Amino acid sequence: MDPDRSVLASDLRRDLRLLEAVAVGLGAIIGAGIFVVTGVAAGVAGPAFLVGLVIAGGVATCNALSSAQLAATYPQSGGTYEYGYRVLHPWLGFVAGWMFLISKLAAGGTVAIGFAGYLNALIPAIPERPAAVGIVVLLTAINLIGIRKTGRLNIAIVAISLATLSYFVVGGLPAIDIANLSPFAPQGWRGAAESAALLFFAYTGYARLATLGEEVSDPKNTIPKAIMLALGIAILLYMLVALVAVGGAGAEAMAATASPLERAAQAFPLPGVALAVAIGATTAMLGVLLSQILGISRMLFAMARRHDLPGFLAHVHTRFEVPDRGILLTGLAAIVVALFGTLEFIVAAASFSILIYYMLANLSALRMRPEDKLFPNWIPVLGAISCAALALTLRLPVILSGLGLLAAGLVWRLVYRRLSGRGLAESESQS
Ligand code: ALA
Repeated sequence: MDPDRSVLASDLRRDLRLLEAVAVGLGAIIGAGIFVVTGVAAGVAGPAFLVGLVIAGGVATCNALSSAQLAATYPQSGGTYEYGYRVLHPWLGFVAGWMFLISKLAAGGTVAIGFAGYLNALIPAIPERPAAVGIVVLLTAINLIGIRKTGRLNIAIVAISLATLSYFVVGGLPAIDIANLSPFAPQGWRGAAESAALLFFAYTGYARLATLGEEVSDPKNTIPKAIMLALGIAILLYMLVALVAVGGAGAEAMAATASPLERAAQAFPLPGVALAVAIGATTAMLGVLLSQILGISRMLFAMARRHDLPGFLAHVHTRFEVPDRGILLTGLAAIVVALFGTLEFIVAAASFSILIYYMLANLSALRMRPEDKLFPNWIPVLGAISCAALALTLRLPVILSGLGLLAAGLVWRLVYRRLSGRGLAESESQS
C-alpha cells in the first residue's frame, strides 16, 4: 500500500477553491491560541501582549510563505522533516521531525486543558483534568476508526468560531475601559517579546495549508493566496478579540484562568457572550485536537518509514487504513501531558519546539534551487532569524528542557541507527 495515498490522503475534494482552502487554514489555526494562550501571554506581558500578537503574526507569515514554496516543490507528507532531510541534512531533518513531535504533543495537552477549562465554565460539574483526559481518549478513538474532519464539518466549525468571536468583539466593545490598558507593559519589552513567542502558537496550523498540493487545482497560485488570507483574517480577528478582552477585563483577570475569553465576557453588558464564547471555544478546540492527533501520528509514520523511529510505528491497520500504533502512542503521550503538565509550561514548550521547527523550514526554503523559489530570499532569512530570536526570549527552564529533549532525540537516533545497522546509510535515504 502506498502510505501517502491511503493514510495521508485528505477527505477534501481535489478541486478545492480558494475560499474552501482558507476555511481549511482557519479550521487548523483557530483554537487554544486565541481562546487560552492569550491569558498566559497577558500574564507575562500585561496589555503589551497585543504587540506580541502582531509580531507573532509577522513571523508566522514569513514561515508560512517558506512552507508554501517548499510544499509546492516537494509535495510529500512529513513537512519540514522531509524538506530538511532533502535540502539540508538528514540530521537536521530529524531535528525538525523530533521538535515537531514534542511541540504537537505539548500543543495537544494545551488544547485538551483549554477545552476542559471552557467545558468547566459551561458545565461546572465536570472537573477539568478528567475532562482533558477524556477528550484525548475520545478523539484518539475517533482517529483510530479513521474519521477525519471533513470539508463540511470543518466549515461548520470555522463558522461557529468566526460567529462567536465576532459576537465577542461586538459584545465587548462597550465594555472597553482605557484604564485596563495601563500600565501597558508592566514587564517591559522583554515581556512583550516573550508573549510574541508564546502567541506564535496561536497562528500555527497554516502548515496544513502548505500540504494541500494534491487537493487544489492550481496549487502554486492558490496555496500562497489562501495562506495569506487565512493568516490575515486570523491576525485581524485575534487583534480585535484580544483588544476587547484586555480592554474589558484587564490583563490580570485574563491571566488568572484557563478560559480567559469566557472570564472577560462576564464583564460585558450584552447577554449570552460568555456562553457563546464557551461554545465556540470548545467546538474550535475539538476540531484542532482531532487534526493534531492525526498530524502527530503522520509524523511518527513518516519517521518510522525512514528508520528514525521503530518500524512498528509505521504499521497501518488493514481495515481502517490508519497508522493505528502511532495514533495509540500519540493518545497515550497526550494523556500524560494533559495529566501532569501545567498550562504555562506546556504552552512555552510547544512554542519553543515549533519555533525551532520553523527555523529549519526557513533554512530549507533558502536552500531550494533558485528556479523553484516563489518568493525572495529575505522572507526565509527574516523568518529564520526571528524564529531563533523569539525562541530565545522564552524562560531559561523552557529553553533548557527543549534543548535537553532535543539532545535525547539525537542520542536516540545515533544509538537506534547503530543498533539497526543503518548508521552509514544517510546518503541513501537523502535521495
Ligand atoms: N493554532 C492552533 C491553536 O491555537 C494550534 O490551537
